[in-house]
Amino acid sequence: MLIIESISDLRQAVREWRSKDLSVAFVPTMGNLHAGHVHLVREAKQLADKVVVSVFVNPTQFSPGEDFDAYPRTPAEDAEKLRSAAVDLLFMPSVVELYPTGSGVTTFVEVPGLSDELCGRFRPGHFRGVATIVSKLFNLVQPDIALFGEKDYQQLLIIRRMVADLDFPVRIRAVPTVREPSGLAMSSRNAYLTSEQKEQAAILYRCLCLAAEAICRGDSDFDRIERQQIETLQAAGFRPDYFSIRRESDLVPAGQDDSHLVILAAAWLGKTRLIDNVRLTRS
Ligand code: PAF
Repeated sequence: MLIIESISDLRQAVREWRSKDLSVAFVPTMGNLHAGHVHLVREAKQLADKVVVSVFVNPTQFSPGEDFDAYPRTPAEDAEKLRSAAVDLLFMPSVVELYPTGSGVTTFVEVPGLSDELCGRFRPGHFRGVATIVSKLFNLVQPDIALFGEKDYQQLLIIRRMVADLDFPVRIRAVPTVREPSGLAMSSRNAYLTSEQKEQAAILYRCLCLAAEAICRGDSDFDRIERQQIETLQAAGFRPDYFSIRRESDLVPAGQDDSHLVILAAAWLGKTRLIDNVRLTRS
């Protein structure tokens, strides 16, 4: 596995593959890799001749006061996991390499509408930072296909919209969420949880499943379902940001005629913000 820190070395490696007509799959990450990331890499290996993974904790997607400094960084362990997963190239740039003029004064990419909903309301500027870094990485890696986890469902739709609007020649592949046996969605931020909190955290997924089951049984009072699950989360010690039933395709609040739905939730457990979602089709 090549480990590359500079843009010029990355471009050179990709150019050599391209000259041999090899296809490239790309998995962008912020590191502290877990089984969910390894799953993305395994999928990537089925889809292209070469697999590139980036590990970069992107400052522009963190607001002031968020956990940019504390975000778990485990570069040696990440490299080991990716080597075992037979990744071809690991791109681990510094902040200065990607934002030479400073991360506060760079050109930004903004996906309006979708970025202001749900997590965007609670994390202003977050999706602008995500869209910006993913655009930059797409320009650098020039992948044929890029893979994103469905756990970050809103992020996934924003990237799809950005790729369509800006004509990036990249296919986006969504990969299902990998869960702990308890149902807790795997996330790098789970590293913040104590073992007791980890058990408690699984309640978030259970609430999403309960809401989905109610809808599948024919309950269509979405406002009440949302309120009930927010109360359940509060009673279990969470501080929910939102629990919301939306249309799967564009995250518009679900109406009675919509059949493809996604239920999304974000809630704090102590100092850790957890997000998760479930999708469902109702007849
Ligand atoms: O999902 C993530 O880990 C990040 O938001 C991403 C896509 C790597 C951009 O920094």
